[in-house]
Amino acid sequence: MWKQISLAVLLAAGLLACQTKERYKSFTPGQVWLDNNNVHINAHGGGILYDNGRYYWFGEHKTEGEGGNVANVGVHCYSSTDLYNWKDEGIALAVAPEGSGSPIEKGCILERPKVIHNARTGKYVMWFHLEPKGAGYTGAQSGVAVSDKVTGPYRFLHAGRINAGKWPQGTPESLKTAPVQAEAHYSGGDLPAHPDSLNLIKRDLEGGQMARDMNLFVDDDGTAYHIYASEENSTLQIARLNSDYTDHDGTYIRCFKGRFMEAPAMFKHEGRYYLMMSGCTGWSSNAARSAVADSILGEWTELGNPCVDADSALTYHSQSTYILPVAGKEGQFIYLGDRWTPENAIDGRYIWLPLEFEDGRFIIRWKDEWKLED
Ligand code: DGJ
Repeated sequence: MWKQISLAVLLAAGLLACQTKERYKSFTPGQVWLDNNNVHINAHGGGILYDNGRYYWFGEHKTEGEGGNVANVGVHCYSSTDLYNWKDEGIALAVAPEGSGSPIEKGCILERPKVIHNARTGKYVMWFHLEPKGAGYTGAQSGVAVSDKVTGPYRFLHAGRINAGKWPQGTPESLKTAPVQAEAHYSGGDLPAHPDSLNLIKRDLEGGQMARDMNLFVDDDGTAYHIYASEENSTLQIARLNSDYTDHDGTYIRCFKGRFMEAPAMFKHEGRYYLMMSGCTGWSSNAARSAVADSILGEWTELGNPCVDADSALTYHSQSTYILPVAGKEGQFIYLGDRWTPENAIDGRYIWLPLEFEDGRFIIRWKDEWKLED
């Protein structure tokens, strides 16, 4: 009798383990997405690194309620081999204790973390948008952390503004000599005039450029780039990183001046570079934008809204965070977006949709459910 009971228990446990391991066989955008512990995945504003045959998803660990939008815990990591089923790998970068005075102290704003691997140093390097505690979004800093192991723990290195004292590539003499017309700070979604007439680039020359919504991209030759909303969010900048990926090398460009591009995500397809971005409307969705270039350092040409189905004007109620190339599937990319729920941050959902290519641009169609092999 005891033998039968223990056999039944073992069978039930085995069945449960199997179900958890391969619970999902498709993507269902916008639905609760459970990890191996049956908990909704907590990795918002995230990005994915493919490393040694596994995908690693890093994102903001949110907590309940409105107060959950700030960093109370840190950067959460999950891993997967099939992109449907995710294993909780724990907190990759933990916030520092309250009162510690660390730039990443609990209660700071730590958004859109991204991790890349440096083949030369062997290190995993994490970058994120950082707003030190208590100053709202006025800091506009970038933070860097490193680890020897992909899942962490990551060690915080430094945070601050970008490329202090460096003019962007191709800055005209007229801008270098023109006076700064800017007030201290603007709302983030608006400016009283074009960023060049305010001369925001010169205003921030000494202290370093602002960087909020961000992403990273590593090109085929191993050169890495930091893409971020700068100049009070009005202008996207793309800055090259140094060879160990822990700082900038001083070369950067400005693009889409005055267009207020947020949530940038870059990928490469058939030798061309593409960007997906959003407009700038806080946590509310807006129409996405896209662009193409033959070289990362420009010129970039806008291609319009890549979304085409109902609710395309709201990016299917989401905002871009990453474009994932599917490993081993040339030309297969997945759009990763966040459906923010700022009133209960932890409940934010994930919108993952396949990219299609048509007439030199990419498009994204809505799907209630889809599979990689579709
Ligand atoms: C939009 C950004 O894309 C998010 O990462 C976050 O910073 C919110 N704004 C805050 O309102």
